[in-house]
Amino acid sequence: MIQQFKKISKEDLDYFSLKLGSAHVQLDEEILKEYASDETEDISISPEVVLFPQNTKQISDILAYCNENKIAVTPRGAGTGLSGGAIPILGGVSLSFKKMNQILEIDTNNFQVRTQPGVITEVLQNEVSKKGLFYPVDPASKGSCFIGGNIAENSGGPRAVKYGVVKDYVLNLKVVLADGSVIETGANVLKNSTGYNLTQLMVGSEGTLGIVTEIILKLIPLPKYDKLMLVPFYQTKQAAEAVNTILKSGLQPSALEFMDRDAIELALKYSEEKPFELDKELQAHLIIELDGNKEDDLMEGIEKIFQLLEKYQTGEILFAETAAEKDKLWKIRRSIGEATKRHSIYKEEDTVVPRYKLPDLLNEVKRIGTVYGFKSVCYGHAGDGNLHINILKENMSDHRWKNELPVAIRELFQFVKKCGGTISGEHGIGLVQKEYLEIVFSEKEMDLMRQIKKVFDPNGILNPGKIFD
Ligand code: LAC
Ligand code: ZN
Repeated sequence: MIQQFKKISKEDLDYFSLKLGSAHVQLDEEILKEYASDETEDISISPEVVLFPQNTKQISDILAYCNENKIAVTPRGAGTGLSGGAIPILGGVSLSFKKMNQILEIDTNNFQVRTQPGVITEVLQNEVSKKGLFYPVDPASKGSCFIGGNIAENSGGPRAVKYGVVKDYVLNLKVVLADGSVIETGANVLKNSTGYNLTQLMVGSEGTLGIVTEIILKLIPLPKYDKLMLVPFYQTKQAAEAVNTILKSGLQPSALEFMDRDAIELALKYSEEKPFELDKELQAHLIIELDGNKEDDLMEGIEKIFQLLEKYQTGEILFAETAAEKDKLWKIRRSIGEATKRHSIYKEEDTVVPRYKLPDLLNEVKRIGTVYGFKSVCYGHAGDGNLHINILKENMSDHRWKNELPVAIRELFQFVKKCGGTISGEHGIGLVQKEYLEIVFSEKEMDLMRQIKKVFDPNGILNPGKIFD
């Protein structure tokens, strides 16, 4: 049953203006439209109002009021999400973190940063790197996404293969609960076995359990050097197998990314810069990055990779030498999602399997594609077994897109589950994957999650209609 929420009245707007100042209460049609969608497919549903709080106290006041009055609240970071988490599907308030964009403290003694949620991830990385510190988690949208959104989705990115994902860096969170009370989920320490782990419960909860207003992240020393190479393969299967060969050798690349031919072709097509040519026989590429503090070790690692790759049919390996060349190569990789969006209506799947199963997953994607008649662009974080599958609509009829595609996706997800994997590695469930959640969780497991939601948000005002109904 779809929950009923109160429509926002003049009285509600007066209250918001009183608490935030009228400049931070937006009703402008253009702005409402901007907050109607994120980067997910082509969905657009406007909020009734956008609020721009500047501190925890204001968020506490807003939530207490909305909870009392049964007004839906959808938190929103930079709107780069890929599962529809920031789309206010039931209207109400879109709660923006744009005005909470301060890094509060970089603690160089304890290797920690305390930050507000509206800081752009790359800005945070750059600021801590000036002090010789490293926050390695780098989603493809790092230049625009907010650290708060990364926490909501438990984001990953290319470096996860060596450094892990957001959850591995979050030590403590300040959170406003649905009734307006403010809690701290943990402590600013590296070890903590004190009670239930509320911090990790919040990470990845997509704004459905509470609103994060302050974040303590763990940092590590910044590695001094990195080496980056692009390896072309004549067979997709060999590219996928090479991933396991490299990792089983004991090397620990800081990125090990896979791109099938279509992915790289699209990225090159929509990119102004074309750092390399694409030979027409090539089927897939791996991006391999090594980082560390001793250049000699990295060179040794590269020699080892060359030896390991000898048994595969590879094309000419490209080395990005300068910072500018590295940047260009990463830009191509990071732009695949956007390029797909420009090319066609598409659906993005974020499958993840134990990484040794990656060749099987790729095979199955193409098999299902042939059976159901869809084309997919596959790429992603091969070292994590995390494969992004962009299914292109192109000329597929609306009828088939709406009716047959979900059946194909279901089959794909059932395969993923059978492999010991799951349906989202780093994009979340949000709106667009919730119908598939019962493929990976039993009724009992779903029920536990629903009960947790009820404990935190009994009136269901926080990001309603996300993860499950
Ligand atoms: C990427 C995003 C889509 O890896 O997760 O490009
Ligand atoms: Zn990704």
